[in-house]
Amino acid sequence: MLRRLSVAVAGGLLLASAVAGCGASDDAGSGNSGGGGDDKITLGFSQVGAESGWRTANTKSVQDSAASAGIDLKFSDAQGKQENQIKAIRNFITQRVDVIAFSPVVESGWGTVLKEAKDANIPVILTDRAIDDPDTTLYKTFIGSDFVEEGKKAGQWLVKEYEGKTETVNIVELQGSPGAAPANDRKSGFADVIKADPKFKVIASQTGQFTRTDGKAVMETFLKSQPDIDVLYAHNDDMGLGAIEAIEAAGKKPGTDIKIITVDAVKDGMTALSENKINFIVECSPLLGPQLMDLVKKAKAGETIPQRVLTEETTFTPEQAKEALPSRKY
Ligand code: AHR
Repeated sequence: MLRRLSVAVAGGLLLASAVAGCGASDDAGSGNSGGGGDDKITLGFSQVGAESGWRTANTKSVQDSAASAGIDLKFSDAQGKQENQIKAIRNFITQRVDVIAFSPVVESGWGTVLKEAKDANIPVILTDRAIDDPDTTLYKTFIGSDFVEEGKKAGQWLVKEYEGKTETVNIVELQGSPGAAPANDRKSGFADVIKADPKFKVIASQTGQFTRTDGKAVMETFLKSQPDIDVLYAHNDDMGLGAIEAIEAAGKKPGTDIKIITVDAVKDGMTALSENKINFIVECSPLLGPQLMDLVKKAKAGETIPQRVLTEETTFTPEQAKEALPSRKY
């Protein structure tokens, strides 16, 4: 099966040359001097948190790629809170880092702090998640997936799976964290596709915060309040895996009694898919680090970079998961 991360950029992006470099640190608030001192590029990166297997793989990709590209990474973990990210970005500005990159916890509310970065002449790169501010001059580029498309792929699989059937299909949905781009977009992309056929009914939809624990807890409440669930659509693997535990504890067979669709394709999700506990996974690649470092270098050099760098992704059935698992990197 073809693929992995590739970037739809006119002209293509060259991989950053590998230079042994320093590691990452959670020092957004340390007050260290950032840009000055030597020729190394300093990147301030604010991560969402550590809510999922996807996020862990994404953090590793960013840290490893910064080290191999010889970029001094100032890494800050927002622990799922927008206020922590705003604080980290302000600290990066004070430290005069060369470039700021961040994966926004939520879509809204970034105008003020990004204007401060712009006024300080520090280029900003959005990674993984977009913001909803109409002022696109606040950031240089956005590298990441098309989450609406991911939701559509999930819906398209479902439509095909129930083709020719007329009975109602009762769906429960585990949403990602409220206000986050992947939660909003995966919900709307999926809804857009299934609305064409009234037999598909979303009978319950609630956030599971992109975590296994919340996915399990919310699925337990769904199972208690909804006696007739046909399908679970979870916005990521972790919530789906938590839900599988709840389904099994309720004496039902995940993947058979309740069909399950998830997004991400991390190893644990792919393993459950290969065991037919999940029926379909839409891939979302976390391996953004190498392309991010290349963009950081270009932004620092004042080169023109595309406004949108899209990651290319696929989907997996159980058979495809079995084939892909041995070489899966995350
Ligand atoms: O923004 C990407 C999403 O965030 C992943 O799909 C999810 O697992 C993560 O927490």
